[in-house]
Amino acid sequence: MFDKSIYEERRKNLRKKIKSGLVYLPGNIDSPMNYRANQLPFRQDSSFLYFFGIDKPGFAGLIDVDNNKDYLYGNDFDIDDVIWMGQMPTVSDLGKTIGAEGIGEKVKLDNVLKSAIKGGRKIHYLPPYKADIVIEIERVLGIKTSFVNDFVSEELIKAIIELRDIKTDIEIAEMEKALDISYEMLSMIMSKARAGIIEQQLVGKMEGILSQRGSHYSFPIILTKNGETLHNHNHSNVLENGDLLLVDSGAESPEYYASDITRTFPVSGKFTDKQKAIYQIVLDAQMEAIKEIKPGVMNKTLHLIAAKVIASGLKNLGFLKGNIDDIVANGAHALFFPHGLGHMIGLDVHDMENYGENFVGYTGGLKRSEQFGLAFLRLAKELKTGNVITIEPGIYFIPDLIKQWKAENKLSEYINYEKAEEYIGFGGIRIEDDILVTKNGHRVLGKAIPKTVEEIESIMGTR
Ligand code: GLY
Ligand code: MN
Repeated sequence: MFDKSIYEERRKNLRKKIKSGLVYLPGNIDSPMNYRANQLPFRQDSSFLYFFGIDKPGFAGLIDVDNNKDYLYGNDFDIDDVIWMGQMPTVSDLGKTIGAEGIGEKVKLDNVLKSAIKGGRKIHYLPPYKADIVIEIERVLGIKTSFVNDFVSEELIKAIIELRDIKTDIEIAEMEKALDISYEMLSMIMSKARAGIIEQQLVGKMEGILSQRGSHYSFPIILTKNGETLHNHNHSNVLENGDLLLVDSGAESPEYYASDITRTFPVSGKFTDKQKAIYQIVLDAQMEAIKEIKPGVMNKTLHLIAAKVIASGLKNLGFLKGNIDDIVANGAHALFFPHGLGHMIGLDVHDMENYGENFVGYTGGLKRSEQFGLAFLRLAKELKTGNVITIEPGIYFIPDLIKQWKAENKLSEYINYEKAEEYIGFGGIRIEDDILVTKNGHRVLGKAIPKTVEEIESIMGTR
């Protein structure tokens, strides 16, 4: 946990942004895996972690905006709990570690909320993403589950996004701890990948590093020679020379901040000419977008910069035709780059997406495009000092998409479908880094993980 002053400061800043009422932040509850006493690994809710820091199930935080007081609710352990799980500090003691008043009988929260409702006080809560929390909200606030999402507090969502949007030095230091683990995982994979290994064996080695470091992945590992499937969690293939291996993964730091890095490299250790040409376009797109990062730039602009580099590279290779601006304006490049350039990252790998993607990525009256490709851009807004974002362009040859667009004759004035069909089976390439927006520009976070053709071939050549 951070020092209690951090949590006090965060709650104070939140109170300043909320006009009146109570902020109710339920922490996560244990989730059974297959029967009640056998639980899935616990992950605390990130909003609760941010303001109350306690990494244990079954707690709730209450911020009384009108009376300037913060409460931590939970049930004190009884002797039965101690027999199975050992001693635990009292809720009152836990409260002291975060500068809140700890109350060891959770039922008291129900009464506080009930009388607040009776007194006509506003109770702010966030959109729940777990069924058990929806039910808990129904129970304590008396809102039927199907209406729980209709009464979430937009005022609270916007206030918290304003706070969590800007990462402080201690948060960046946490993300760099997660990135140290990413560095270790990817360096290991580049030295271990070779023909004959099953993808799952490499996933296991990565999970071993996470476990040894007392960490956990920030999202399930993507490690695949079929990188054209964007979130491919099938790890059953045997690697062969000639394959490209796409590894998209992240770790959590001790305080649960995420990393998210993608590298794509040849199983043989040497790119073929065909692979090198596509790889270099993706790398150029990533580097060009990163180069332009500074406060005041719209992330949508960065996406379009990357899209133009991709369009121009693919035009040079004969996949696209026509004017680059027209190709991008019409979304023809999205046949090969069908996702957004990146997202915010912090306590969540897609930071704060549980509040609603558009609240996080489309502030200031921005409208989300409906065009295939651009519509999937999660983050379009203007960047500010202290934002941390991912930049992750890619080029993919997705057989079903190519076939579908070809059958529809879609944008055929810009697309050479015969050439695209030749690359079915090529796979996909994505390159991703995590970048801090600084006062004067940006800083790519973490130790440099090999990503140029030369760097990758050189590290893999030492296997
Ligand atoms: N790295 C996984 C994602 O950003 O969706
Ligand atoms: Mn990502």
